[in-house]
Amino acid sequence: MRVLVIGGGGREHAIVDACVRHGHAVSCTPGNPGIAQLARVLSSAQDAASLAELAINEKIDVVIVGPEAYLAAGVVDECTRRGIPAFGPTQAASQLEGDKAWSKAFMVRHGIPTAGHQSFTGLEAALTHARAQTPPIVVKDAGLKAGKGVTIAADHAQAEAALRDIFTQEGASAVIEDFMTGQEVSILALSDGERYALTPPSQDHKTIFEGDTGPMTGGMGVVCPFPVTAEQLETIRRDIIEKTLAGMRAEGTPFRGVLYAGLMLTPQGPKVVEFNARFGDPEAEAVLPLLDSDLAQHTLDAARGQLDPGTVRFREGASAVVILAAPGYPAEPQKGIALELPKAPAGTQIYHAGTAEQGGQLLSSGGRVLAVTAQAGDLPGALQKAYALAGQIGFPGAQYRRDIGFRLGLRGD
Ligand code: GLY
Repeated sequence: MRVLVIGGGGREHAIVDACVRHGHAVSCTPGNPGIAQLARVLSSAQDAASLAELAINEKIDVVIVGPEAYLAAGVVDECTRRGIPAFGPTQAASQLEGDKAWSKAFMVRHGIPTAGHQSFTGLEAALTHARAQTPPIVVKDAGLKAGKGVTIAADHAQAEAALRDIFTQEGASAVIEDFMTGQEVSILALSDGERYALTPPSQDHKTIFEGDTGPMTGGMGVVCPFPVTAEQLETIRRDIIEKTLAGMRAEGTPFRGVLYAGLMLTPQGPKVVEFNARFGDPEAEAVLPLLDSDLAQHTLDAARGQLDPGTVRFREGASAVVILAAPGYPAEPQKGIALELPKAPAGTQIYHAGTAEQGGQLLSSGGRVLAVTAQAGDLPGALQKAYALAGQIGFPGAQYRRDIGFRLGLRGD
């Protein structure tokens, strides 16, 4: 099958890897130097019309869209209109991620468990509401922020600063939510709009510093599987995934693609922290190496509305990701750092998240630079392998958390 993957980060590197493992001919745009070792990297304008044109010219059987911005720009709509199967939600359905205020209202309409909230389109009303809350106060930018639009404010001053920052942008809106306690878990549902298959649960580590402290990032490391009880899983399926897919169908915007449920396992049961409309990053880097069955075939089936969930199979074992980030990330990541990468030993992968090549030299080009990933029979083994490899790479000033898995009482280093 001829597959076109759109995107150029660690998630797309993992998607390309999963497709290549099953013998597909993969192209990717804009790609990155790591992806270029596995697939044809094509340069193209990145707007919806140009990408659909590229897929037609390359006789692509299925397009897999990685990042949310392409979904919000209508790439799937445009490919579908031109007769190319594309895996991902339409522009309208991707609102589940793209507009957090809309997403919260959707959850309320359909009785999907989530934190209490209020949405605001103006600063003054938001400030008045925040001042009346007891910290910690959860403040979210309602728009797309690559995982960095959330502040858990420890006091009123922090909440106020976060709100002032959000409302410097024209047309901004904010969501203020009740703070939830419990373990956070990510579950990804591959869906054709009706049927779905779940990936094993995983746990991302979203802040820059150890012990889940410091500013939010796109994600600094993952453990998979993360243990959830049979009862929690049943609630997640019935009250969250199935209600969401049914609600999206009922509203005339069926959700095809990856429904990413970011959940809190609260004492009252699992509740939605946020929905995303695509594979998580770096969750994809942890989960996809455990996928035994054929990702490209699943995406084509889902795009055609014919996913057979029974064919989606994950193998036993565990997977861990440690993100190597640039100095200065997340505020002002330093770019252009020379990278020398070892060959990844068996059962490990070095997925490129923010790299570029200049005159034959590999350089850092983003905040999250590499997703160092490993699989083993159990999580301690996977963490040990991932940390051994991360320690070997260690470019100048590299930041990485040494405590991935700490909420399970694990430490990999
Ligand atoms: N890892 C969080 C996200 O993909 O949004």
